[in-house]
Amino acid sequence: QSEDQKRLIDIHNQVARLYHHILVNTKLGEHALSYLHSRGLDDETIDEFQLGFAPQENLLQPFLKQREVDQQLMHASGLFIERDDGTLSDRFFNRVMYPIRNQAGQTIAFSGRVLDKQASQAKYLNSPETTIFSKRDVLFNLDKAKAAVRTTKDVILFEGFMDVISAFQAGVKNGIASMGTSFTDQQIHQIERITDHLEICYDGDEPGQKAINRAVDTLAHARLKLGVIQLPSGVDPDEYRKQNGDEQFQKMIQTARESPVTFKLRFLKLHRNFNRDEDRVDYLNDALAVIATVDTPVGRDVYVNQLVDQFQVDKQLLLDQINGIILNNR
Ligand code: CTP
Ligand code: MN
Ligand code: MN
Ligand code: MN
Ligand code: MN
Repeated sequence: QSEDQKRLIDIHNQVARLYHHILVNTKLGEHALSYLHSRGLDDETIDEFQLGFAPQENLLQPFLKQREVDQQLMHASGLFIERDDGTLSDRFFNRVMYPIRNQAGQTIAFSGRVLDKQASQAKYLNSPETTIFSKRDVLFNLDKAKAAVRTTKDVILFEGFMDVISAFQAGVKNGIASMGTSFTDQQIHQIERITDHLEICYDGDEPGQKAINRAVDTLAHARLKLGVIQLPSGVDPDEYRKQNGDEQFQKMIQTARESPVTFKLRFLKLHRNFNRDEDRVDYLNDALAVIATVDTPVGRDVYVNQLVDQFQVDKQLLLDQINGIILNNR
C-alpha cells in the first residue's frame, strides 16, 4: 500500500467511526437507528458491522479539514461529489451507511441505503472506484467469514449485504456477498484461498434464480465444491429470518441444500408448459445436456431416473442421448 492509500484507508476508518457515532449516540441518528431495529438488527450487530448514518451534505469536509486532510485527498476518497462550481459536497447523505471492508478488515468504501422507499433515488449507493476500492474485487464480510470458515468449512454467498448481516446475527457467520455485480474470477480466487466449498443462497425471486444460474455457470470451472441453498419463493434470506426466527434460519441454511444439477433441472422448468409436447421435448433436451455434465455414471443415473419418473420416457433413449453429448464434448 502506498502512502496515499494508507491515508485513504485512515480517512475511511475515521469516517466509519463518525457515521457510527451519529447513528448510535445522537439525535440525528434516531430515525435511522429505529429503522435498523425495525428491520430486526440488534445493537450488537450494529456495532459488529459498524453500521452508521450519514445525515446531511456538509458533514465530512469540516470533519476532514480538522484532521488536516487536503482537498486532493478528499477528492480521491470518493466520499464527495464535485458541484458545478468546483466545491465538494458529501456523496452520502440521509442514508444508512454500511462500511465495506477489505480482507484485512480495513474500511475501503461505503454503501448507503435510503431509509424510506423513495422512487426517485437508487436504493443503494456505493462508493465509486478509487485506488483502494474496486467493486469487482471486493466481497462483503470476507474478513469475518475467513475466521468463521475454520469451523463451518464452507462459505455462503448471499445476494445482498443485508442478508449477510442478518445471517450473522442468527449465528451464520460465514456469509459473503458481492457488491451488486455479477460474480468475477478475482472473487472466485479469493474464495478458493479460504475454502473448497461454496454454497449459493440468493433471493427466492426470479432475478435471484437467474443470478444463481449465472453464478453456477461462472463457477463451473472453479475448484470449489458447489451447492445451492434454495429459499421458499418470493423471500430473501433476511426476510426469511425475520419471518421464521434465528433457529429456523440456521436449520434452513443447513437443510435446504441441493446440488447445482438439481437446481438447474428445476430452473429449466420455469416458463415451460408441460402440457405442450414442444415444451416437454425442449425441457428434456436441455435437462439431458445438464445431466451430461455429471462426471460419474452413478451420479447421472440418479437424475435420469427422475426424468423417467416425471415424463414416462424410455430410460435407454435418455442414456443414449447423454452418451452422445458426452462423446461430442470430449
Ligand atoms: N443493489 C444495488 N443497488 C440497488 C439495488 C441493489 O447496488 N438499487 C445491490 C446491493 O448490493 C444489494 C444487492 O444488489 O445488497 C441485492 O439487491 P436487493 O435484493 O434488491 O437488496 P437487499 O439486499 O434485499 O436489500 P434490502 O433488504 O435492504 O432491501
Ligand atoms: Mn462441507
Ligand atoms: Mn434481490
Ligand atoms: Mn434481497
Ligand atoms: Mn432484503
